[in-house]
Amino acid sequence: ETDPVKLMKQQVGYAAAQRVQSGSIVGLGTGSTTAYAIQAIGERLQSGDLKDVKGVPTSFQAIVLARQYGIPLVSLDEIDKIDVAIDGADEVDPQKNLIKGGGAAHTQEKIVDCLADQFIVVVDSGKLVDHLGSTFLLPVEVLPMAVTPVMNAIRKLGGSPELRMGVKKAGPVVTDNGNLVVDVKYDRIDNPKELEQTLNNIPGVLENGIFAGVVDVVLIGEVKDGQPIVR
Ligand code: A5P
Repeated sequence: ETDPVKLMKQQVGYAAAQRVQSGSIVGLGTGSTTAYAIQAIGERLQSGDLKDVKGVPTSFQAIVLARQYGIPLVSLDEIDKIDVAIDGADEVDPQKNLIKGGGAAHTQEKIVDCLADQFIVVVDSGKLVDHLGSTFLLPVEVLPMAVTPVMNAIRKLGGSPELRMGVKKAGPVVTDNGNLVVDVKYDRIDNPKELEQTLNNIPGVLENGIFAGVVDVVLIGEVKDGQPIVR
């Protein structure tokens, strides 16, 4: 791999995989950074360095990658707890609050990540921001029949929503759960916890992409003197 951003993601994904212990249940996140962690966990299992690990997927993408790299999967109905979850993010603020959902997977991600004893976030340094919302629109998963009233309610609360459209797909993006995504622009998100709760109180909203106060560890991939490092 030569692309510096991909190298940062690879390093940080591998660093997170090193923290997984034998016998543990691992939440498998979504996105290009976590994909490297899933690959590395699979490689550790194949080499015998790691034993008896099971994954809880956060998306269809995570299911596919876990199968590809030989990580057995379990559902939330079969387990009592998740030991560690590894997931990416679209923005991270200095208090370790996140915006997620760039891949439209934040609803299942929040369920799995919040159940874990330890939640490890893997990002490249480009994801670090002073304030949430400064570079990324806030994703909100919405029940299809409620999309118009939800967008109206979001406008009344001071956000500018737009329905996420497919890139290669005609029409809107449909989530793994069969719902739509509205991306909301805010001038500045001053109180992430409050906004997270306010948005989720709108009837028809399934979940929004603010993860406030749930992260234990942030691993950051950087390039220093031309070399990728993790801090
Ligand atoms: C998925 O919905 C997101 O929450 C991802 O975790 C996030 O977009 C990070 O993806 P990358 O690691 O590909 O940037």
